[in-house]
Amino acid sequence: MPMAGIYGPKDLGGSLAVHPAQPAPQSRQQQAHGREFAMPSLEWTPEVERATAHLYERVKNVISPVEWPLMAPYIKAINELKVTRNAVILAHNYQTPEIFHCVADIAGDSLQLAIEATKVKSDIIIQCGVHFMAETSKILNPNKTVLIPDSRAGCSLAASITGADVRLLRERFPGVPVVAYVNTSADVKAEVDICCTSSNAVQVVESLNVPTVIFLPDQYLARYVASQTKVKIIAWKGACEVHERFTGDELRAYREADPSVQIIAHPECPPDVLAEADFTGSTAHMINWVRNKHPKRVVMITECSMADNVQAELPDVEMVRPCNLCPHMKRITLAKILDSLVYLREEVVIDPVIAEKARRSVERMINLKN
Ligand code: 13P
Ligand code: SF4
Repeated sequence: MPMAGIYGPKDLGGSLAVHPAQPAPQSRQQQAHGREFAMPSLEWTPEVERATAHLYERVKNVISPVEWPLMAPYIKAINELKVTRNAVILAHNYQTPEIFHCVADIAGDSLQLAIEATKVKSDIIIQCGVHFMAETSKILNPNKTVLIPDSRAGCSLAASITGADVRLLRERFPGVPVVAYVNTSADVKAEVDICCTSSNAVQVVESLNVPTVIFLPDQYLARYVASQTKVKIIAWKGACEVHERFTGDELRAYREADPSVQIIAHPECPPDVLAEADFTGSTAHMINWVRNKHPKRVVMITECSMADNVQAELPDVEMVRPCNLCPHMKRITLAKILDSLVYLREEVVIDPVIAEKARRSVERMINLKN
């Protein structure tokens, strides 16, 4: 179904949305969880080498032996301190291999992380990902401490729209339900009917049983959904600054160089890119596609670290890596995760009234039957 329209702040008379990442109030969380811990030793010793040898086995295809002595002391310290703190580490598929394979307790795409966040038993959740992901964990766990190692880890999609913009869209299209990609702030989630991720966007849109929906904020994901359903889609002019950089020409060049190469792409890419891809899916769907098909050579059209994470697991699949990095995801490092555990920072705080409203739209998505 062709798209029914695409809007941005200027079309609604609203102001351009900017979501500065929220600085963390430090004192309250530290009171809540008692004492601060001393920074552990970060020396590379034979003991550190022994204690982390099994973890190096997981990443030896993608992390050189020269780099490991710089990472291993942090990894050992993080894994010990998270037990002492009763903390769990959730990591998105775009986190670097030393985080994804060596310190994460749960790793996955946005949907998997949101679902897993509902099952967490620990007192503290450390979100290795971007701010909207940490907010989603907090929305689903209002009584737990949710920390993000760097609260400046934003997202161009989440920054493209505010709750006020959603209210203006509702005025323009009365009675049309609003679906928000989880790549939005809690303020936006509080104003919409239901959330979705790239794993379930078509299913969520169709679950509403209406002829037209407003789908925000990613115009390219909206176009992809429109191509898969008869429901009319009114979109927002947001875009992912990482995926919008890929071009159809780039993909054609890969195919010219090797006609047998497999190309798989994330639906945040522009339509000319998706038209050239052999498969389109969320980060988790892309990983499963590579696991199941086991291609000889594959180009992953998404954030660069994901190819490293899959390469670590599947050394015999040749990854072609067009390396577009998400600068926000890359703000999360081992050193900042350790700081998070030692100093309990940076805490994600959401106004309880907004969190309660946002929870309804996230839970409505999670509770959808498959
Ligand atoms: P996934 O839901 O596919 O993990 O994507 C999240 C994201 O931010 C992609 O850029
Ligand atoms: Fe946001 Fe794009 Fe980064 Fe994903 S890759 S977090 S959509 S900026």
